Amino acid sequence: MSVKHGIKTLGIVGASGQMGNGIAYVAATRAKVPRILLLDQSQAQLDKGLKFFDSLLAKDVSKNKLSQSDADEARASLHPVADGLASLGSGQELTPDMVIEAATENLSIKQKIFSQLATQLPLETILATNTSSISVSKIAASAVSQNAAPGSKEVWDGPKRALGLHFFNPVPVMKLVELIPGLQTSQDVVDRATAFAAACGKTITRSADTPGFVSNRLLVPFINEAIIALETGVATKEDIDTTLKLGMNHPMGPLQLSDFIGNDTVYYIAETLHRETGDSKYRPSVLLGRMVDAGWLGKKSGKGFYEYP
Ligand code: CAA
Repeated sequence: MSVKHGIKTLGIVGASGQMGNGIAYVAATRAKVPRILLLDQSQAQLDKGLKFFDSLLAKDVSKNKLSQSDADEARASLHPVADGLASLGSGQELTPDMVIEAATENLSIKQKIFSQLATQLPLETILATNTSSISVSKIAASAVSQNAAPGSKEVWDGPKRALGLHFFNPVPVMKLVELIPGLQTSQDVVDRATAFAAACGKTITRSADTPGFVSNRLLVPFINEAIIALETGVATKEDIDTTLKLGMNHPMGPLQLSDFIGNDTVYYIAETLHRETGDSKYRPSVLLGRMVDAGWLGKKSGKGFYEYP
């Protein structure tokens, strides 16, 4: 099958998580990528992700947003790979044109993944990270084959294929992708990734590689301020959220949104902004830190600012 955006095989690392699953969904149903490798750590996780994928397909077919034959084609494009990254690059079918990493928001995990991808895949494979706040240039610097000789051309060329492609949750619904080139990223890689994200039905904005990029530089201080308002008794959680929902037409209030994103993720991004800029206006609220300590992570843990039975 010919695909205009040129991505015939796509790999998704962390494919069973909310973000990875959503990216697989738009890649299969909108960009119609013929072969999608779902990479995750265990078959059980992959099965869970596939179950959710199937429920989204069924919902879209029942609402006439997708024909049954398009849904069948999308489902047939998925190829779960349960051994993580181990077999990646061994043969054409396991050599993607692009990999999107949607693993946990943790620098050393992402560096390890990028180093392994660069070792096993050719220089032509685009390596995208879905990071929401970590330096893309730092992650890209790990995209060097472990077999490359120090100072060789490969050491310089490896990071050129890496960039940030920041999708938003829930991916099938949110219309944006924020594209973040690292200092090293080549123009060709930016162009190819732009064509792919557009084929997924997304509008693309571009941000410099600065802490939180555009989206979280603005969103996270806003959420943090709402938590400080709660902490200092300005209003109840319900009144804070209702004010923003009804007064400003936000689909969710900031405390509900923090639960939705994950309070640990919001805390982590706030810490990154604070640490990397040194500006106290980004300091995470004490209450947010304590909630993370308590394991009140929001929707995913069943309790955050609200309860999710
Ligand atoms: N995956 C796929 N689709 C989903 C979904 C999910 N996890 N959750 C909801 N949807 C779909 C529903 O199936 C429904 O689709 P249809 O229109 O086809 O029926 C649609 O979204 C609307 O859902 P609901 O009717 O159940 O609920 P709603 O109208 O209250 O909308 C919402 C839910 C779309 C999540 C809405 O509340 C919203 O837009 N909230 C704000 C989300 C947001 O700001 N996201 C960005 C977070 S920041 C981020 O992701 C990046 C970062 O770096 C932190």
